[in-house]
Amino acid sequence: MLINNETIIKDDDPLIRQRSADVEMPVSDENRAVLLEMLNYVDRSTIEEIAEKEDLRPAVGISAIQIGIPLKMTAIIIKDEEGNKVCEYALVNPRIVSESVEKAYMDAGEGCLSVVGEHEGFVYRSARVKVKAYDILQEKDIVIKAEGYLAIVLQHELDHFKGILFYDRITTYRDPQAIVIE
Ligand code: NI
Repeated sequence: MLINNETIIKDDDPLIRQRSADVEMPVSDENRAVLLEMLNYVDRSTIEEIAEKEDLRPAVGISAIQIGIPLKMTAIIIKDEEGNKVCEYALVNPRIVSESVEKAYMDAGEGCLSVVGEHEGFVYRSARVKVKAYDILQEKDIVIKAEGYLAIVLQHELDHFKGILFYDRITTYRDPQAIVIE
């Protein structure tokens, strides 16, 4: 399956609003292969030479609906400035089991592979979330206790399962109580 900027579903396609279904367990070989392709996309998308050559938009996460598959699967890789992986997940049926009341937002705003235009404003999300999922990299059920950037990324990706895009949550009001993520 070829995943690039051409094949990723954009927000002018109604499919991006479709709800994703639970993945049947145990994970089939087919779904596993799709999720690993998604993870591979995210990894390669932040390597400049590859991204340029293969038309990949840099990303930290991608959900299956963005390649037209309405199943609850998401791949996330966060790297540091040297390009080393800080964390890496290939999640099946991730769900938020608890979230903080305290809010956080990305200072630079959020981006999305499925959103082409500019959307200015603040997207408030829980500063901390606890997510349960099956991770095919670890081959087990895991609990992720996330804060900061990872917490934002997880909430953004899980929104895709409900057909929600980041700009649906955008506001122009700056909440002085919320944590700013640089
Ligand atoms: Ni997105």
